[in-house]
Amino acid sequence: MLQKLASFPGVAGPVVVIVMDGYGLPANDTGSAIAAARKPTLDALFASAPHIRLRAHGTAVGMPSDDDMGNSEVGHNAIGAGQVYAQGAALVANAIAEGAIWNGQAWQEIVAGAKAGRGVVHFIGLFSDGNVHSHIDHLKAMVERAKAEGVRTVRIHALLDGRDVPETSALDYVVPFEAFLAGISDAGFDARIASGGGRQYITMDRYDANWAMVEKGWRTHVLGEGRQFANATAAVNGLREQNPGTIDQDLPEFVVADAGQPIGTIEDGDSVVFFNFRGDRAIEITRAFVEADFAKFDRVRHPQVTYAGMLQYDGDLQLPKRFLVAPPAIKETSGEWFSKMGLAQFACSETQKFGHVTYFWNGNRSGRFAGETWQEVPSDVVPFEQRPWMKAAEIADAMIAAIQSGQYRVLRCNFANGDMVGHTGNFRAATMAVEAVDLALGRLLKAVEAAGGVALITADHGNADEMFELDKKSGQPARHPDGSFKAKTAHTLNPVPLILFDCASGGRLGLRQTEGAGLSNIAATVANLLGLAAHPAWDESLLEVS
Ligand code: 3PG
Ligand code: CO
Repeated sequence: MLQKLASFPGVAGPVVVIVMDGYGLPANDTGSAIAAARKPTLDALFASAPHIRLRAHGTAVGMPSDDDMGNSEVGHNAIGAGQVYAQGAALVANAIAEGAIWNGQAWQEIVAGAKAGRGVVHFIGLFSDGNVHSHIDHLKAMVERAKAEGVRTVRIHALLDGRDVPETSALDYVVPFEAFLAGISDAGFDARIASGGGRQYITMDRYDANWAMVEKGWRTHVLGEGRQFANATAAVNGLREQNPGTIDQDLPEFVVADAGQPIGTIEDGDSVVFFNFRGDRAIEITRAFVEADFAKFDRVRHPQVTYAGMLQYDGDLQLPKRFLVAPPAIKETSGEWFSKMGLAQFACSETQKFGHVTYFWNGNRSGRFAGETWQEVPSDVVPFEQRPWMKAAEIADAMIAAIQSGQYRVLRCNFANGDMVGHTGNFRAATMAVEAVDLALGRLLKAVEAAGGVALITADHGNADEMFELDKKSGQPARHPDGSFKAKTAHTLNPVPLILFDCASGGRLGLRQTEGAGLSNIAATVANLLGLAAHPAWDESLLEVS
């Protein structure tokens, strides 16, 4: 049990954690959609409320190195769990470096399963070094190992990124990889890219937002349906010609074919590895492979394959049962402990980030702890630069209603705008996204104040704070040959704010800026605001009480 805090009885009203997804604090305002936005509520908070900076990238959130940007999974894991765990990116890299992955039962079954069938292993996943969902080096190591273990054929189904890496960088990965595959292939081993497409167009949907994407992916990878090209390099070039101005993540599907015959359909007896380590966008396609009774779309054909995920994507659902590397065992989360204290909790976001404040927050578990209420606001199924306000107003409505109900002691929400619109690379839309969040925040904070509560306003990582690729030397925006700025679609390495909105304590409360302050300090800070001592496993509270 968490103990009562001796020094502070806790605020009378609710404690509300507000995550402004993709809201970082850049070193300067060049290319910042946040700086360009009209945002009176946030401006007033930064002018007069206690606020500090939190680390939200690299080792502070369990990534392998400080060159790794943050992302929503590791960010929400750290906020919810109050601790930093070595995350999928680091766990897989270690398992490969130490060789443990090859001795595991799952890898051995993948190889044995393929050998018992046609000798084919398929690898499906995000084809970049973004290290958010996957890393291409992991794929390379698996292809080499498959050959060493006598697998005859490897087929790769490559989801083009442009979202965690520069927006039109697909050929930087595809060209060298096809050369690598050609080099490693010989009379007894045949490895090629067989299909693919933009990650926001096929396969990598999340949170049941748009199953049609997954169906399209299934038809591409499994059935071999789609525009045909001789190889993946030709596919990327051809699709770009056919779709001028379309960035990698939105490119349509492609199928590699020899004389009209797709080279990599997935058949009975094949093995399939989904090589993303992150779960949110891996769960739906995994379900399509492993569920006997599957009703989300018509699979046409359901090949009986040996399937493995790089990690287990959902601990509660054990999805999938076979996985190459054990996921981080995230324990003692704040959701669980506040539940054990009998506190009623409320979590809300729109579909695109709903699992972030539930599944990621609770340590990659889809189950609910006692006393938790979750509310999902359905997201629009549109390119978000066309609706940059997204569902900020509706999320605020839901939060305000929950606060006014008086039923909840701890509440949390995520405003997706800064991130989802930031990922489109559209500067003007990202500015509107930030303005929409500011408008919603203003209403929400009034309700917090009226209820005698406090709010912690923060972000899981940056995104809208840098909308242009910056030239490394000059720090100025990099340009295309035609003089236009190169849009940046990925997250940033910048710190994020932690703001304390407090009209409840008569000015007794403040925040402490420590050197290592990061997202994992939020859980303990929330506990203290509730008048509870933090769980000993959690990183220290940043609350100051005078
Ligand atoms: C995505 O999945 O949309 C991006 O790869 C990462 O964005 P997120 O970590 O903010 O969800
Ligand atoms: Co993002």
